[in-house]
Amino acid sequence: MMRGRFITFEGIEGAGKSCQIGPLADWLRARGRGVITTREPGGSPVAERIRTLLLDRDNAGMDGIAELLLVFAARAEHLAKVIAPALDAGHWVLCDRFTDATYAYQGGGRGVAPARIGVLEDLVQGDLRPDLTLVFDLPPAVGLARARGRGAPDRFESERLTFFEAARAVYLERALGCPERYRVLDATRPLLEVTAEITRLIAPVLDA
Ligand code: TMP
Repeated sequence: MMRGRFITFEGIEGAGKSCQIGPLADWLRARGRGVITTREPGGSPVAERIRTLLLDRDNAGMDGIAELLLVFAARAEHLAKVIAPALDAGHWVLCDRFTDATYAYQGGGRGVAPARIGVLEDLVQGDLRPDLTLVFDLPPAVGLARARGRGAPDRFESERLTFFEAARAVYLERALGCPERYRVLDATRPLLEVTAEITRLIAPVLDA
């Protein structure tokens, strides 16, 4: 059986990535692929409970290393219970955020050294990395205006603009450093235009 593909959706708040996962899943299913959609932090029962801790505004001021370890604790559980079994069963896994978000938020945003993140990445993931990462790029001011229109901000959404500028810069730097794995999409465009671009990008992966 062919192993499934692991595709991650990344970008700062309000980039529209979460709106694009469903349409891509439908498009792949129409082409006979088994697909699961999931998200981080979260995606399994224990990981969703960790997500609640991470996003809770009552936990303002959480220690940066504690935050990093919680993110990877959730990821270990999600990988073991959901992602790895799905890939082994030949399904495609479409994941709303993954370890690039850790480099962007805990690395860029909170200032944790990337080498420290890399240690945990190797520990938790072994050599598993996404096959393809879509980076939804837009100016943080535009994204935050969209995200804040959705209701009360969570612990991350309450950060200053400079936090998201740093996160965006890390996403773009990582994409630039590894063009085989990343595709950067201009997320200021209308959703349907972005959807069309994603299917154009995925078509070659489907045939590969
Ligand atoms: P969202 O995906 O629903 O926007 O919320 C998840 C929040 O968690 C988002 O603000 C980014 C943050 N996050 C991290 O800080 N590190 C991570 O590794 C992941 C996956 C998410």
